[in-house]
Amino acid sequence: MGTKQAWALLASHWRSRQQDTIGALFAADDGRFDKFSLCLNNLLLDFSKTTLNDESVRLLLQLAATVKIEARRDAMFAGGIANDSEGRAALHTALRADGGEISVNGEAVLPEIRQQRLAMLAYAKQCKRAEITATNGDAYTDVVNIGIGGSDLGPAMATAALAPYHDGPRLHFVSNMDGAHLADTLLGLDAKRTLLVVSSKTFTTMETLTNAVAARQWLSAALGEDDARLHIVAVTAEAGRAADFGVSQVFPYWEWVGGRYSLWGAVGLPLALAIGASHFEQFLAGARAMDEHFVAAPAAKNLPLMLGLVGVWHRNICGYPTRAVLPYSQRLNLLPMYLQQLDMESNGKNILQNGQPTPTSTAPVVWGGVGTNAQHAYFQMLHQGTDIVPCEFIAAARCHERNEGQHKLLLANCLAQSAALAFGDNSADKPSHSQFAGNRPSVTVLYEQLTPYTLGGLIALCEHRTFVEGVIWGINSFDQWGVELGKTMAKDLFAAWDDGGEDLSTRGLLRHIRGLS
Ligand code: F6P
Repeated sequence: MGTKQAWALLASHWRSRQQDTIGALFAADDGRFDKFSLCLNNLLLDFSKTTLNDESVRLLLQLAATVKIEARRDAMFAGGIANDSEGRAALHTALRADGGEISVNGEAVLPEIRQQRLAMLAYAKQCKRAEITATNGDAYTDVVNIGIGGSDLGPAMATAALAPYHDGPRLHFVSNMDGAHLADTLLGLDAKRTLLVVSSKTFTTMETLTNAVAARQWLSAALGEDDARLHIVAVTAEAGRAADFGVSQVFPYWEWVGGRYSLWGAVGLPLALAIGASHFEQFLAGARAMDEHFVAAPAAKNLPLMLGLVGVWHRNICGYPTRAVLPYSQRLNLLPMYLQQLDMESNGKNILQNGQPTPTSTAPVVWGGVGTNAQHAYFQMLHQGTDIVPCEFIAAARCHERNEGQHKLLLANCLAQSAALAFGDNSADKPSHSQFAGNRPSVTVLYEQLTPYTLGGLIALCEHRTFVEGVIWGINSFDQWGVELGKTMAKDLFAAWDDGGEDLSTRGLLRHIRGLS
């Protein structure tokens, strides 16, 4: 069967059963929860509160088979060219592999990855033992990571998520071109005890280099230029550029690791400094377990595959334009932003791999924030708004604090919200403004506790879901040409500030800025 026919079958299947509500599906099958949820170790993926039924799942799996999802997955893991437009592999999974053989262009990559990992973890250990110190001999108390996009969001998100495991220096993340970000971060830091990590795959990114130069000046003012250099390390695939900038050490990564997939290698250095080498190894092990599951589990039991198919169901078959990520975990407050880059930079494409326009919609708008705060901001719209937003609830059964009572309250909120969305309340005695139609879908990801291992598995699950969706949409999930035009235009505009502006709107805005500044 061809892909076109598989799409058509799904569309007519959905047309024939649009009256099926989530409530009716549960009423008709008391085994629905077990049938539509999957487990890997302690991580549960529950997608029973959707409108999927057995036939929908069968048809979605059929669609996945027509795009040869398994062959594409195996090729990605083996180092095949997954990123056509740049002629590159997408081998982030190799960064967390612990055996086997993977080659890129005929060269085995695992020995070099292992060596790089050992070097990074040794650095983290030496910093912790104060064997690597600031130039005055003191241990580093603060680390400032300067990077943006994939060189910031991953380590910042994971560092915040794993706060209970921190036993190293304090971590800070500076990304924005707005100088206020660096200024506010450096306030109160002591340059004599601060390490700067300049993280940039290309070492050309405007924001990162501008902030790195400003931060180096801050160090130089306190330490002098030579010592300032000793307080700076770089994470980059462009060692020459980093050396020209002036750093004490370079942690390399490879062109075949995309920025938004790079957390597992040297881009994870800030995380390793914060949580230590063995917890970082645990983080990799959790992701590796998800990789092994993704490769080996049968399709219908495969968490990333099924999560991707639920995404396709909501985006393409039901036509929902956005999805909300709602971690009931304060420490996962950066997860929605991290997933915005992962999903929207990977799959926000309107061109197929063969250069033709996509016949289907691709990445939804990904948004969200932590519960319960989000309940008091935009849940009104989720419950009673005119658009349906599939929600992704994420929660831990146990917290790290000795306050299980409060944690139960948090969980009660999480479960209550997904139940209210799904089942609503149409009591006839209530005025229409207090009625809830329900039938609003969600998935729930539940795990025991937010440990390094669990976080690794959770992030790998999300990465592979993005991959599954991208393969089904027929796009290249590993390039990001859509960010280039704006970057070039900003450079041109900056260079010709006084009489710049290619179009009348920009010229008008510039005139106004000049009048104000
Ligand atoms: O602008 C997009 C992007 O290229 C992302 O894909 C990347 O994560 C980010 O910029 C930062 O790039 P670099 O690590 O090269 O500084």
